[in-house]
Amino acid sequence: MYRIQPVQIDWKPDKSGPDAVYAQIVRFVCQKVETGEWPIGTRLPSHRELARLFGVNRGTIGKALDMLNSYGLIKGNRGNGTVIASNTWSVLLPHQADWGSYVSAGYFQANKTVVQEINRLEFSPQMVRLGTGELDPRLFPADMMKEALSRVASSIESLGYPEPLGLERLRKAVSRHLEKIGIIAPPSSILITSGALQALQLISASLLEGGSVVYTERPTYLNSLRVFQSAGLRLTGVAMDAQGISMASLQNIVPLSSAKTDAVLYTIPTNHNPTGRTMTADRRYALLKFCANRRLPIIEDGAYQDLSFDAAPPPLKAIDKIGTVIYLGSASKSLAPGLRIGWLVGPEPVVQRLGDVKMQVDYGASSLSQMVMAEFLESGMYDEYNVFLRNELRRRRDAALDVLNKRFRSIASWQVPDGGFYIWLTLKETIHMEFIFRAAAKEGILINPGDIYDFRRNNSLRLSYSYTTPEEFRDAALKLADIIEREIE
Ligand SMILES: Cc1ncc(COP(=O)(O)O)c(C=O)c1O
Repeated sequence: MYRIQPVQIDWKPDKSGPDAVYAQIVRFVCQKVETGEWPIGTRLPSHRELARLFGVNRGTIGKALDMLNSYGLIKGNRGNGTVIASNTWSVLLPHQADWGSYVSAGYFQANKTVVQEINRLEFSPQMVRLGTGELDPRLFPADMMKEALSRVASSIESLGYPEPLGLERLRKAVSRHLEKIGIIAPPSSILITSGALQALQLISASLLEGGSVVYTERPTYLNSLRVFQSAGLRLTGVAMDAQGISMASLQNIVPLSSAKTDAVLYTIPTNHNPTGRTMTADRRYALLKFCANRRLPIIEDGAYQDLSFDAAPPPLKAIDKIGTVIYLGSASKSLAPGLRIGWLVGPEPVVQRLGDVKMQVDYGASSLSQMVMAEFLESGMYDEYNVFLRNELRRRRDAALDVLNKRFRSIASWQVPDGGFYIWLTLKETIHMEFIFRAAAKEGILINPGDIYDFRRNNSLRLSYSYTTPEEFRDAALKLADIIEREIE
C-alpha cells in the first residue's frame, strides 16, 4: 500500500510585508487547495517541519493551523500529522477528484518506506552518501562529455523516434564493446533500453506469467525494487558463499525439471549488488550447466561488468553456447546514470518480443542519449574513462578497507570486493538495522540498511566507496562506528 508522503514546500512568508505571517501561511495553504495542487487527503509535514520550512516559530504554525482548522480545511492531530480534509470547504471547490484513493491503487507496489526515505535523503545536500549506488559527480568526465556532445551536435540531422531495437549505430558499438568481454552478439540480438532497470521491467512484463518463480541471490538488488513483485512474480532467495550463488542451496531449492515457462534465475555474478562479490569462473560453469540441465533461463545482470579491478571471469553470456542467458548491461555505473542507457542481449525472438513491448511503453530510449553513448564507445573515450575510473575506485576501496581494518574489526566483518562500489558490512551483534540507519541519518550519514536487499532481517549494511573521497569516507565511517557502538550498548 502506498503511504502518501507529505507535500514539498519551497515557499516562505514575507516577514517584512504588511500582512501577518500566519495569515500569509493560511492564504498559501488555501491557494494550494483551491488550485487542486493539494487535493483532499494530502499530508502536510509535521508542525516542527512546517516551522522549519516556512522559517517561522511553532507558535505561528499553531496559529495558522488553528485558523485552517476552523475553516474545516484541514484535520488531524499534532501527533499524527495533518491532512487536507474532505469537508464543507471542498464542496465549494469545483468537483475535486479524490486523488488520495487513486494513489493507493494501481498494480505497481510502493517502494519500501526506507527505500523511499533513501531516495529523498540522497538529494539532501547535508548528507554524506556512504551507501549509495552512484558515482561521485566529481568523477564525471565533463570534458569528454562536452566533446561527445559537440560531435553529436555537429553531425545531428534529425531527432526522430529510434527503431524498435534502438539506433543501429549504438547497437553496433555495443556489439563491439561486448566482444571485448567475450560476448558475441550481433546488433540484431541487442535491444537498447532506458537503463538496465527498464530491461528488468520489460522482462517481468513480457516473458513471465504471474506466479512464476525468480530464483536469485540472497541478498539481492532485486529485493530493493518492486518491479518483479508488482508483476506478481515470486522471488526465491538462494544463499551465497564466497564463490557466489551456492550450488548446494540451488540444488535443494530448484526442482529437477523446470521445462515450463514458470521460472528464471536472476544473478549479478560480477561485482554483486549489494555484497560486492564476484562469482568465480568454476561457479559460473557449474551454474550454467545446472540451469541448462533444467532448462532454467538465466538473467545475468552485468550493470557493474566494466568495473572489475583485475581481469574478471567471463560473463555467463560469454560461456553460454545454447542461448540460456539474457545479459543486461548499463552505462549507469561506468559513465552516467542520467543518460538512461542500457542494453539487453538475448536470443532474437526474445529481443524482438521485448522490443515490441518497449515500443508500446516508450517508443525507444532517448535518441540523443543513444547518439552520445555511441560516440563515447566509438571514439574510445568510454574505454579511456573506464581505465581511470577503475583506478580511482580501487584507490577508494583500498582507503575504505584501511579505515574498516583500523576501526571496525571488533564490531563487524566484511569481504574484500574485487571491483564495483560496495562493501557488505556484517555486524557481530544482532541489531535492527533501521535503528542504525536512522541514528546515522540524524548525524548526516546516509547508509543502506542490508534488510532492503534481503528476504528477512539481517545484520548487514551496504557501504559504498564510489560517492565519497577517501577522506570523506574515513570521517563518516569513523562517526558510523561510534553510532553503531552506541546503538549496540
Ligand atoms: C545490479 C543493478 N542492476 C540494475 C541497476 C539499474 O541500473 P540502470 O540505471 O541502468 O537502470 C542497478 C542500479 O543500482 C543495479 O545495481
